[in-house]
Amino acid sequence: MGALRILVVSQKGGVGKSTLSANLTAWFSDSVRKKTSLIDLDPHGSSSSWVNSAREIDAEVEHYVASEFGERRWLLGCRTLIRSFSRKVEVLISDLTWSPAMDPEFLHEFDLVIVPTSVSAIELAGTCKFLESISWVFQAKPGDYPSLLICPSRVTQEELSTSPFDKEFLSIPFLLLPPVLHDNQMKTFFKKGFVFDRPSASCNAFVQCAEAISQAGVLHKKRTEKNRTKILDRRILDCHNSKLSRFMSRKKSISNAASTDQFNPSGQNKLSRISKILGVTRAHK
Ligand SMILES: Nc1ncnc2c1ncn2[C@@H]1O[C@H](COP(=O)(O)OP(=O)(O)OP(=O)(O)O)[C@@H](O)[C@H]1O
Ligand SMILES: [Mg+2]
Repeated sequence: MGALRILVVSQKGGVGKSTLSANLTAWFSDSVRKKTSLIDLDPHGSSSSWVNSAREIDAEVEHYVASEFGERRWLLGCRTLIRSFSRKVEVLISDLTWSPAMDPEFLHEFDLVIVPTSVSAIELAGTCKFLESISWVFQAKPGDYPSLLICPSRVTQEELSTSPFDKEFLSIPFLLLPPVLHDNQMKTFFKKGFVFDRPSASCNAFVQCAEAISQAGVLHKKRTEKNRTKILDRRILDCHNSKLSRFMSRKKSISNAASTDQFNPSGQNKLSRISKILGVTRAHK
């Protein structure tokens, strides 16, 4: 089925991308016992230094800072890295601060795109603008696009009673994750431990969020596998405009019509029709 590839991304700073990436890496590795990698694509390197310095977990960590920021070079460098890591792990998590100079095509390297956002009106408007600017990513390839997950982040107890995600919030389909709660202790975990190391309300909320991400991954894989099979079925007959594929599609229509051959008023036999498809009629003449 291939690795579950998760991108934690936002154009906004300080929304909790690195906190979520580091803790999610530890959760998949420690609690789910999946072979996990963290690829930190953020120049600050917060999530990678967190995982590298905290108590030991069985996850491979890579901090990649692209030296070339030209759109295409950046895309190729990051894409190569993601592809090579996804061959050797079960879960791959990547932390990225988005910039408009980046090529949105990169998002197609992932199964799940998680966008953490605070639920204040001003931050939600920014998140919405960012997502609308890359909306084609989630609609471009039928059946083979990443699933969009929005993660309410640093949510306070008062905000829990509000419901800011109404129908008009976004035109792209998305899955709303259980919120990551605001916890003043969160900064004390940096480089020392993980949020689920100490039982608390924010630990429970984090685990619920992580479980929902894992479930979304299973559903996403099922959907893409189903569609991939359908596309492969079609490919030989429709997509390749080669002599062989044209022959195969004609052959299929002939075999479908075979049962009606004996009633064919034109009397044209099957052999001559196959010869025509292969182009041997002219050669005989
Ligand atoms: N759930 C939380 N509760 C309280 N504070 C949090 C929470 N998540 C993150 N923070 C704090 O918010 C700040 C920003 O978090 P973080 O570095 O994870 O965000 P970021 O989106 O990766 O930021 P940047 O864009 O700078 O990379 C940090 O001080 C962090 O400790
Ligand atoms: Mg960060």
